[in-house]
Amino acid sequence: MTGRGARRLGGRWRRRGALRTRLAVAATAAVACVVVCVCTAAFFIVRYELYRQLDLNLTQSARLVAQQNRRAGPGVLAGECRFLAAPACAQLVPAAAVRDPREPYLLPVSGAVRRVAAGEHPGFRSDFTLSGHPARMLTTPYGDGLALQVALRADTVAEGVGQAAWLLVLVGAGGVLLAAVLGSWVARTGLAPVARLTATAERITATRDPGHRIELPPPGREDELTRLAGSFNSMLDELEQSVTAQRRLVADASHELRTPLTALRTNAELLARADRLTEAQRTRAAGALGRQLREVTGLVNDLIELARDEEPQPLVEDVRVAALVQHAVAAARTHWPAVPFALEVADGAAGAVVPGVPARLSRLLSNLLDNAAKFSPAGLPVEVGLRCPGGVAEVTVRDHGPGIAAEDLPYVFDRFYRAGSARALPGSGLGLAMARQIAQAHGAVLVAEPAAGGGALFRVRFAERA
Ligand SMILES: Nc1ncnc2c1ncn2[C@@H]1O[C@H](COP(=O)(O)OP(=O)(O)O)[C@@H](O)[C@H]1O
Ligand SMILES: [Mg+2]
Repeated sequence: MTGRGARRLGGRWRRRGALRTRLAVAATAAVACVVVCVCTAAFFIVRYELYRQLDLNLTQSARLVAQQNRRAGPGVLAGECRFLAAPACAQLVPAAAVRDPREPYLLPVSGAVRRVAAGEHPGFRSDFTLSGHPARMLTTPYGDGLALQVALRADTVAEGVGQAAWLLVLVGAGGVLLAAVLGSWVARTGLAPVARLTATAERITATRDPGHRIELPPPGREDELTRLAGSFNSMLDELEQSVTAQRRLVADASHELRTPLTALRTNAELLARADRLTEAQRTRAAGALGRQLREVTGLVNDLIELARDEEPQPLVEDVRVAALVQHAVAAARTHWPAVPFALEVADGAAGAVVPGVPARLSRLLSNLLDNAAKFSPAGLPVEVGLRCPGGVAEVTVRDHGPGIAAEDLPYVFDRFYRAGSARALPGSGLGLAMARQIAQAHGAVLVAEPAAGGGALFRVRFAERA
C-alpha cells in the first residue's frame, strides 16, 4: 500500500472510530453520573439514619437522667462516659459562671450552653471529642436557671459512616467501570448498521460498482437506520440504472457509428487516389463523402442531445402550445417545401399553456414533423392538430404514408431502431428516442398509433397542471 493510501485509510478509520468513541463516552458519562448521584444520596441517607439513632438514644438518656436527678444543683450528675459501653455522662450547668461548682465539668461548656440555661436558647445537639474519641452531646433547658448536658460516645456511628463512605466509593467506582464497558458495548452494537452502511459506501467508492446493496433486516424490524439503509439502497438502484443506461448508450453509439465511419473512410481513401478516377467517379465519391459527413455529424449531435439529463429548472417557463406548434410547422414548411402541412387548432386550445423548455419542445415537434414529412408520399398532407380535451393540451401529427407495422410499433421509440422499410431513407434512428425522452422530462406522454385510413399518428399529451 502506498503511503498516501495508508494515510487515507488511517484517517478514515480514525473518523469512523471517533463517532463510536463519542457515543461510548456519552453513554458512559450518563450512566456514571447516575451511579455517582445514587451513591452520594445513599451516603447521606445512611449518615442521617445513623445519627438519628444516636440522637434518639441521647434524648432518652436525657429524660432518664432528668427523672433520676430531680432538684439537683450544678455539677456532674453521671460520670464515666469515657468508655464505649458506659451509660451517658451528664452534668447540670448554671446560666451564670458564679454558680459553677468547685470540681471541673466533664463536658465542654460554651456560651450557647449558658444561654440555654438562661432560657434564651432552645436545646441543641453538638459533636465534640472526648479524650480523643468522637462524642455527641445534647444540651436542653433543665429549669431553675440550669441546662442539662448529656453525652454519648459516637465511635460506632462515626465508624459506620466511614465504612459506608468507603463501601459506596467502591460500589461507585465499580459502577463507573461497568458503565464504561456497557457504554462501549452500546456504541458498538448501536453503530453496527452505520458501520455496514459505511462499508458498503466505501466498497462502492473503491470498486466503482453500484451493484452492491446493504442487507436489510426482515420486515417488521425497521428502525431509523434501516430506513436510511433502505433509501440508500433505492438511491443505488437509481444510480445503477442510470450508469447502465449510459453504458448502453455509449455501446450502442459506438456500434452504430462504426458503419457510417467505415463508409466515410472508404470514400476518403478513394478520393486520396483521385488521379486514377474519372471526373464522374470523383464527383460521385465527393458527393457521397459530403452526405456521409453530414449524416455522422447529425448522428453525433443527436447522441449528445440524447445523453443530456433532465431539463435544467431555470430554463422552464410557461409555453403557449399553439404558438409553439405554429412555429414548428412553419419551420417544417421551409425544410420540406414539397410537403403540404395542415395545422388545425381546436376551439379553446389556442390559449393552452404548459410548463417546459421551449427549445426542447420545439425539438420534439420537429422530430415528429420530419418523420411525417419523410414518410409522406408526394402531394399528401401532413396533418397537425392541437386540441385541449378536459383542459389537457394534446398535439397530434398524422401522415398518409405507409404507417408503422404492428411488429415495429413497440420498438420505434428505442434508440437506433429503424424499421426495415425505413433503412433506405436518411436517418439515425434517434429522433423518436429523443422525442420520447423530451416528453418524459416534461411529464408528457408520447405514443404512436396507426391512423384510421392509413398512415402513422403520433400523439403528445401534456400533463395536467397541478
Ligand atoms: N411517420 C412515420 N411513418 C412511418 N414510420 C415511422 C414514422 N416515424 C417513425 N417511423 C419509424 O420509426 C423509426 C424510428 O424513427 P426515428 O427515431 O425518427 O428514426 P429515423 O427517422 O432516423 O429513422 C423509423 O425508422 C421508422 O421506421
Ligand atoms: Mg426521424
